[in-house]
Amino acid sequence: MNISIFGTGYVGLVTGVCFSELGNKVVCYDIDEEKIEKLKEGRIPFFEPELENLVKKNIKKKRISFTLSPEKAVLNKKAIFIAVSTPQKKNGEANLSHIRKAAKEIGKSLKGYAIIINKSTVPVGTGCLVRNIIKKEYKGDFDIASNPEFLREGSAVFDFMNPERIVVGTDSLRSKEMIKDLYEPFCCPVVNTKIETAEMIKYASNAFLATKISFINEIANVCERVGANVDEVAYAMGLDSRIGNKFLDAGIGYGGSCFPKDVRALHNIALDNNYKFKLLRAVVKVNNDQRLSLVEKTEKLLGNLKNKKICVWGLSFKPNTDDTRDSAAIDIIKLFEKKGGKVNAYDPKTDNGKLQRDNKFKTVSFCSDQYDALKNCQVLIIATEWDEFKNANLKRIKNLLQEPNIVDGRNIFDLKKMKKMGFNYLSVGR
Ligand SMILES: NC(=O)c1ccc[n+]([C@@H]2O[C@H](COP(=O)([O-])OP(=O)(O)OC[C@H]3O[C@@H](n4cnc5c(N)ncnc54)[C@H](O)[C@@H]3O)[C@@H](O)[C@H]2O)c1
Repeated sequence: MNISIFGTGYVGLVTGVCFSELGNKVVCYDIDEEKIEKLKEGRIPFFEPELENLVKKNIKKKRISFTLSPEKAVLNKKAIFIAVSTPQKKNGEANLSHIRKAAKEIGKSLKGYAIIINKSTVPVGTGCLVRNIIKKEYKGDFDIASNPEFLREGSAVFDFMNPERIVVGTDSLRSKEMIKDLYEPFCCPVVNTKIETAEMIKYASNAFLATKISFINEIANVCERVGANVDEVAYAMGLDSRIGNKFLDAGIGYGGSCFPKDVRALHNIALDNNYKFKLLRAVVKVNNDQRLSLVEKTEKLLGNLKNKKICVWGLSFKPNTDDTRDSAAIDIIKLFEKKGGKVNAYDPKTDNGKLQRDNKFKTVSFCSDQYDALKNCQVLIIATEWDEFKNANLKRIKNLLQEPNIVDGRNIFDLKKMKKMGFNYLSVGR
């Protein structure tokens, strides 16, 4: 099928290249000139495993191309996906300005029937909004659909190619059948719903996962006070198939470009409809408090943090991605700086120039080697569980730190081993 994707970020680019790999002819459009120029040369603007090879391969086979022209992106396409960003506004609402702009561009460029399929995470009613915007620009026939995306950064290509379910919200048989054809190669349940329900499924899923994380973090906080071990508690809980073992890792809380904004957006959707989603308020509060708790643990080891040198390993919101949007590590560094601490930071993949421009840190030195980052520091903070941290040389860490202090926000080291090696080691719920 001839398809196009509006927005070539983590979701749009992965969607585009995976559909091209499945034999479709795909055009990816973005408003970001630098991104599109890089992509035309097969260079990926962010880190995502497997993506670069797949893009290069499909450029070579002429199944995927990139453009800055919305007209070219829309011309002769049967399906047009919207995968633009939907960041949160200050009040927690989803900012739909990119969606509106994309819908307007599509409406202006449409010449014949197409389905406009929304993959961005959007509040209930956005399908209807997109339809109305397009209708103002284009008087011909078209359909709207909602097809939320569940891929995870760090394993996005695998997740897209191996979905556990595909959700399709439509209100016409024609669009339902066309989307069914597009997803024909996938062997998983397809859940067909109305558009509003599909939009809600995405928010409900993310909010539930965030709730699971905040729940286990609350259990961790009780474990710390009663002498239980949250890792063992979570393992035993997870063996119960009603609970499941995923998203039960205690730590400094969830982050990233989805959970924080989607939880707050769902809370706002409920409020707009005169309902207080009490549980989600608590989920957010617990998540924020986990960051504070890590700083308190650091104070427990070092006392007053003024002028203390702190090494932070991990800046991305989780391993295997360079994405730092709403990363717990960034919040923690800001809290350390507020208390007068000075930070050495290391991450294997993040764009530190951009991080500095966006956050205007006052004291952070970004290091290009994880061990160099430890020099002259009184404590090591584990903020992201990259494999290279899990496999770090503990003797070297001990020799390089001024004092053998580690505060582990991701529970990556073995308690007994750390004690035996003489570390002052604090983790979460153990
Ligand atoms: N990142 C994830 O893991 C993930 C997973 C599932 C769903 N989502 C949802 O998918 C959507 C996209 O997320 P993302 O992480 O890919 O965002 P992103 O910021 O990585 O990419 C969005 C892209 O859209 C482009 N864009 C903005 N306005 C545009 C316009 N008018 N026309 C064309 N392009 C435009 C931007 O330049 C950017 O390249 C969001 O709603 C997000 O919540 C994200």
